[in-house]
Amino acid sequence: MKFDQALPAQLRAAQRVVVFTGAGVSAESGIPTFRDALTGLWSRFDAARLATPDAFIDDPELVWGWYEWRRMQLLASQPNLAHWAIAQLAQHVPKLTLITQNVDDLHERAGSTKVLHLHGSLQQPRCFDCNEDYSLPDAAPQEPAEGRRLAPPRCSLCGGAVRPGVVWFGESLPVPVMDAAFAAAANCDLLLSVGTSGVVHPAAQIPEIALRSGAGVVHVNPEPKALGIGREWVLPGLAGQVLPELLREAFNTAKAGGK
Ligand code: OAD
Repeated sequence: MKFDQALPAQLRAAQRVVVFTGAGVSAESGIPTFRDALTGLWSRFDAARLATPDAFIDDPELVWGWYEWRRMQLLASQPNLAHWAIAQLAQHVPKLTLITQNVDDLHERAGSTKVLHLHGSLQQPRCFDCNEDYSLPDAAPQEPAEGRRLAPPRCSLCGGAVRPGVVWFGESLPVPVMDAAFAAAANCDLLLSVGTSGVVHPAAQIPEIALRSGAGVVHVNPEPKALGIGREWVLPGLAGQVLPELLREAFNTAKAGGK
């Protein structure tokens, strides 16, 4: 890919970088996105029956089974070149804040630390009634089974049903995480928005906050959309290809990537 030469230079010069990721960053690991036509989860499943507190009250086995199916997919997957490149980028800039909307742990498995998970995590379920954390057993992944109903485990404290540790529609984002994410966006020099459709609020405000605060914003997406309100670069393509290339261009790195 040919980059506008100002971009690698800006990345080299940046003191505070934010990387903001969505489902697209994990797509090349085989994790489905939400809104891609045909393959997106919300084109195949009804969010109202799976991703709201009422859905869990109505049919906990359906909801728990669906999220366990996704967790098993995740356990069987590996970080891709985009996750590795982001972890590598943190070694090259003075400060990098990684904000993700993803509920997977692929950034952490690629070596990123202190990841701000705006929408929670599949790995941290908790009691629906009393909020007590629930520890998942360290078991090997089972064969992912779409549509399998599964009774949720019970809370060891109050006996309530354990729910997935993700943010559902109609729920608030975790306040400390959101505050830290918004502050990082407002104080960065450059923000890379990677693999997100930018339609779910309040997360979708993050690139705009950076732009309005004077930062440059880079969009990495096969179908990128610029906000058109500031200094933006649009890099059409797969995150696992574009990000390693950008790192090579900016820092003369060897082939970015992990194992
Ligand atoms: P979406 O499914 O809405 O968008 C995924 C984006 O990734 C699209 O813009 C794709 O074009 C892009 N994409 C696909 N493959 C890619 C690749 N290899 N490299 C780069 N980009 C790629 O997912 P999100 O924007 O993450 O919320 O969705 C936001 C939220 O909506 C999710 O966190 C989830 C969902 O409902 C909750 O679970 C609360």
